[in-house]
Amino acid sequence: MSIPLHTLRAGVIGTGFIGPVHIEALKRLGVQVTAICGSTKNAKATADTWGIPEVYGDYNYLAMCQSPTVDVVHITSPNKVHVVQALAALAAGKHVVCEKPLGMTANETRRVVAAVGKKGAPVFAVNYMCRFFPAVLQMRALIQRGELGQIIHVQGHFFQDWLLQQADYNWRLLASEGGKLRAVGDIGTHWMDAVSFMLGARVEGVFAHLETFHKKRLRPKGEVKTFAAVDPADMVPYKVDTEDFGSLLLRFGKSKHGFANGVHSNASISQVAAGWKCSLAVGIYGTKGSVRWDLQQPNEILLGRRDEPNQVLQRATAGFTKDVAGFTDYPGGHPEGFPDSHKMHYRAIYEHIASQRRTPVLFATADDGHHEVQLCEAILKSHQKRQWVEL
Ligand SMILES: NC(=O)c1ccc[n+]([C@@H]2O[C@H](COP(=O)([O-])OP(=O)(O)OC[C@H]3O[C@@H](n4cnc5c(N)ncnc54)[C@H](O)[C@@H]3O)[C@@H](O)[C@H]2O)c1
Repeated sequence: MSIPLHTLRAGVIGTGFIGPVHIEALKRLGVQVTAICGSTKNAKATADTWGIPEVYGDYNYLAMCQSPTVDVVHITSPNKVHVVQALAALAAGKHVVCEKPLGMTANETRRVVAAVGKKGAPVFAVNYMCRFFPAVLQMRALIQRGELGQIIHVQGHFFQDWLLQQADYNWRLLASEGGKLRAVGDIGTHWMDAVSFMLGARVEGVFAHLETFHKKRLRPKGEVKTFAAVDPADMVPYKVDTEDFGSLLLRFGKSKHGFANGVHSNASISQVAAGWKCSLAVGIYGTKGSVRWDLQQPNEILLGRRDEPNQVLQRATAGFTKDVAGFTDYPGGHPEGFPDSHKMHYRAIYEHIASQRRTPVLFATADDGHHEVQLCEAILKSHQKRQWVEL
């Protein structure tokens, strides 16, 4: 038996770029957003904008975790506080949706895996919501059914340009704030998680090369919200200790369905690629055909065949099948995109909670989030040692 989603209540930690994306998606699902936590000024402003009744200023997430009117805690704060906040929410018996990456080091994310592994622990999801684009779910289903044959190799990129200029600044640029890997940790893990999800296999070996184009950058004297513009006259120089871009060779393990075994993949990750705003692009090549997709054109999959005409599969038309039922709401020709992927992701998590875990776990678990952090560490090690690193 399942309870209606509108009876579940969410509390959101963080009021920057992605916090309101969570709030909007939850409201579109009919979930109540009962509490908000952030700086005193921003928490109040966010509460006023969205009509959120409980406000926890001064970053007082501990108080919010104790609120009897919060069932699910969404963690949308910077990476370095994810683990401490996740552990507090779990200890208070709250379900958790935590932003990616799950934490700064595998040593700390291991603690979340242990907490979630305890008997009776709440539901825990990491916000690798790219899994929930209908196109990604459709490509996954095509692979699982063997419609692309045996998968040979995967190629792609995750490119952005918002950190192209020397004066572009965000806390992610500092290893002490976001983790030792920046482009790979921030967006590369989205790519790797989405490909693992589609193949049904995890990365087992990596070979990586990382580069920092801007060895020195300029930063504002205070903090700024993600994507916010700052006057360069108001900035100070600093030495950069995270990568701007990187090249990854990945070797995947075996899938249960048998169509992806030891797949080879190469991915290019960059936050200094002029012209690309948020392009997670992937091409998956099998013995019977291929699929290509880009998050910037999320409603279409290019299906490639060698001896038949290629096809463009369009969301909510005959090319997308019942595999994606429940993960797309609007008819063909009415595009769905980034905000909808969050909505579909939270729907899957909240339905899992509401059904007392009877629905399948398609979302990324604490273990998946931990795996991505382990991968980042292996990638850094490979770059430093200039050799393949096995996981
Ligand atoms: N899934 C996605 O597509 C996606 C997209 C963007 C960001 N993210 C992730 O979301 C997180 C936040 O990123 P952002 O771009 O929104 O950053 P941001 O800087 O725009 O916002 C961060 C917010 O957290 C608040 N904050 C800072 N310290 C805090 C603390 N100790 N406790 C509570 N709140 C605190 C800040 O005041 C700010 O409101 C990051 O982990 C990032 O990787 C995910």
